[in-house]
Amino acid sequence: MIQVFVDESSVEVAPGSTLLDAIQAAGRSVPTLCHDDRLTPAASCRVCLVDADGNGPVAACSTPVRAGLRIGLATSASWRRDGLRAVVAGLPARALDVPGDRSELVRLCEQLGVAPETLPLVSGSRGVDHSHPYVKLDRDLCIACGRCVRACSEIQGTFALTLTGRGPDTVVAPGTGGLWSDSDCVSCGACVDTCPTGALSEPGLLDPRPIEQWTRTTCGYCGVGCTLDVA
Ligand code: FES
Repeated sequence: MIQVFVDESSVEVAPGSTLLDAIQAAGRSVPTLCHDDRLTPAASCRVCLVDADGNGPVAACSTPVRAGLRIGLATSASWRRDGLRAVVAGLPARALDVPGDRSELVRLCEQLGVAPETLPLVSGSRGVDHSHPYVKLDRDLCIACGRCVRACSEIQGTFALTLTGRGPDTVVAPGTGGLWSDSDCVSCGACVDTCPTGALSEPGLLDPRPIEQWTRTTCGYCGVGCTLDVA
């Protein structure tokens, strides 16, 4: 086992563990956004930054522990808040206009005290892909964390998704280009399950309109309805 310190607490973790593992073993936590325990760490969002041995920030989700390492949580809170601000800055305002129970991003902003009105959010829309019966892509909500892309390849083994675009315009897209309905998606739902913002959802889940405005029921007894004809 390897001994490390989380602030003043000593904890032992197995070789190969990450700083995030050590922090959790010590009964502490740091926010994460691009991380999913089931997936290979990407360390792309910088929301989990912690101080390592007083030498500056490292991503807790991907950095391996070493013997005697001192992880500073109390001294690094502002780095994590800045990391979150950098993720959100430049997104369409709608990205933070999602119910908190549907969005890790919104919950994290509340948790870290990142107020939407203090961010340089932009107006306009990057569009919605309604083409698929089981997966809806709302590009305005995408933060390009890549969790869906990794879930598609690492959980499902399908490799149907990719990230496309540059800078703040980067969004998930079918690897084949074009509409989701024309992609290699097998409708497993792994991408929807891991998406931290609601950019990928079951059609209708985040639709604020009354249900009768976006569903077409297929029989008089079905209370769920089909969303193939979403406007
Ligand atoms: Fe660690 Fe995103 S959660 S960098």
